[in-house]
Amino acid sequence: MNKENISIIILAAGKGSRMKSSQAKVLHTISGKPMLYHIIKESRKISDDITVVVAHQKEAVIETMQNYFENIRFVEQDTQNFPGTGGAMMQVEPKYDKVLVLNGDMPLITADALKGFLELEADIIMSIFDLENPDGYGRVIIRNNHVEYIVEQKDADEAELNVTTVNAGVYAFSKVILERYIPDLSNDNAQQEYYLTDIIAMANEDESSIVPLLVDEEQFKGVNSKKDLADAEEIMQNRIRTKWMNAGVTMQLPATIYIEEDVVFEGECIVENGCRITGKSKIINSHIKTGSVVEESIMKNSDCGPMAHLRPLSNIENTHIGNFVEVKKSILKGVKAGHLSYLGDSQIDEGTNVGAGTITCNYDGVKKYKTVIGKNVFIGSDSQLVAPITIEDDVMIAAGTTVTSGEIKSGNLVLSRTKMRFVKDFYYKFFGKKQTFA
Ligand code: UD1
Ligand code: CA
Repeated sequence: MNKENISIIILAAGKGSRMKSSQAKVLHTISGKPMLYHIIKESRKISDDITVVVAHQKEAVIETMQNYFENIRFVEQDTQNFPGTGGAMMQVEPKYDKVLVLNGDMPLITADALKGFLELEADIIMSIFDLENPDGYGRVIIRNNHVEYIVEQKDADEAELNVTTVNAGVYAFSKVILERYIPDLSNDNAQQEYYLTDIIAMANEDESSIVPLLVDEEQFKGVNSKKDLADAEEIMQNRIRTKWMNAGVTMQLPATIYIEEDVVFEGECIVENGCRITGKSKIINSHIKTGSVVEESIMKNSDCGPMAHLRPLSNIENTHIGNFVEVKKSILKGVKAGHLSYLGDSQIDEGTNVGAGTITCNYDGVKKYKTVIGKNVFIGSDSQLVAPITIEDDVMIAAGTTVTSGEIKSGNLVLSRTKMRFVKDFYYKFFGKKQTFA
C-alpha cells in the first residue's frame, strides 16, 4: 500500500475503567498482541506520521510500542486538567493537512477500512454504523441527510437514546478544523470531559462540510469491557484461522483453536480441536493433536499430542511427541517420545527412543543444565537423566535408571536398580487369604 499524505492520531490515554483492570486498556491483548499494536500496524500501512496520545500508564504503553515500532510520536495528554477525547487532541501537531483520528480501543480496524476516509473530500468525514443495540456508543443525530451533532450516551435524552446510528470512533478532519475548534471545546457535560465529538455540532453550525461514512461494525468495534475484548478476540481469531485454512491448513472444529498472529504454517498441516499455538511458532508439514499447546516453537515433519506441550524455543523435526509430553528449549531431530515425559534444555539426535516417563532433571534449584543425547539411544521407561549429562550414540539405558554420570560412552548399557527379592507368602500374612481393594 502507498503511504498517503495523511497524519494519524491514535487516542490511547484513557484509563479504561470499564475493563476493571490495573493494566491500561490499550495494552490488553488480542491474539497475543496489545490492542494498540494492531491499530498502529494497520495505520502504518497508509501513513508515515503517526502520533499516539498517552497518559494513563504512559511508560508501559510507550515502552511496549517501542518494542514493536520505530518512528512513532508519543504525546502526553494533560488528563488532570483536560480529560476526555477532546483533551487528548490538545497537544497534537499533525504534519499533514488531513488528519485521521482513531480511538485506541479498536483492535479490529484494517488499513483497507481506513482507506475509505481518504477517498472522500470534506471538512469532516466521520464513521457511523447502525446497531440494533447502540448501548455505550455516542448517538449520531442526522436530519435531512445532514449530520447535526453527536451526543454521548450519558448526556442523551430519551429520544436521542433511541437513535440507533452511532459514532464508530474514527474521523478524518482537515487540520484547519482541528485548529479552529479544539481550543473552544468545553467540559460542560455529564462526565465533565472534553469531548472530541462536540466538534461536529460546532462545525455544523458554521456550515462546514460533514460527511458520514457508513462503516463495517466488525472492523470498527470499540473494546470497553472484558466482554468486548472476548468478542473482538473471536473475530480476530476467525480472521487468522480463515487465512490459514485458505492457505491449506486442515482444522478440526476451528472455533476451538487459538492461533496467535505471528504463527506461520507451511506445507500440509493438521490442527485438531482445542489446540493453542502462540508466539512466532512455525509449523511445517506437521500434525498437532487435540488439546496440545505449542508456544514459540518450530515443528517440522512432526506430530505432537494429544495433550502435548511444546514450550518456548523447542525445535522438533521428524519427531513424534506423544501424549502428556512436555518439551522445553530443546532440539529434537528424528526422536520418538511417546508418553509422559519432560524433556527440557536438551538436544536429542536421530533414531533415539525416549521411553515413557523419562525425565530430564535439568534444574538443581539454582541453575539449569543441558542434556545431550546422541543417535540411536534407547532410553528405558521411567529413567531420570540428571543434567548436565552427555549420552553418546548407541547407548542403552535400562528402565528405571537414574543416570547421574556426566558422560556415557557409546555401546554401554547403563543400569541402576536394586536387586529384586521375594518374600514368600508375605501377602497372605499381611492381608489374610481374601482381599479386594475396591
Ligand atoms: C467514544 C466516543 C463515542 C463513540 C465511541 C466509539 C467520545 C467523547 N465518545 O466513546 O461517541 O461512539 O468512542 O467507540 O469521543 N482517551 C484518551 N484520553 C481520554 C479519554 C479517552 O486518549 O481522556 C482514549 C481512550 O484511551 C480510548 C479512546 O480515547 O482509546 C476512546 O475513549 P473511550 O473512553 O473508550 O470512549 P467511548 O466512551 O467509547
Ligand atoms: Ca471506547
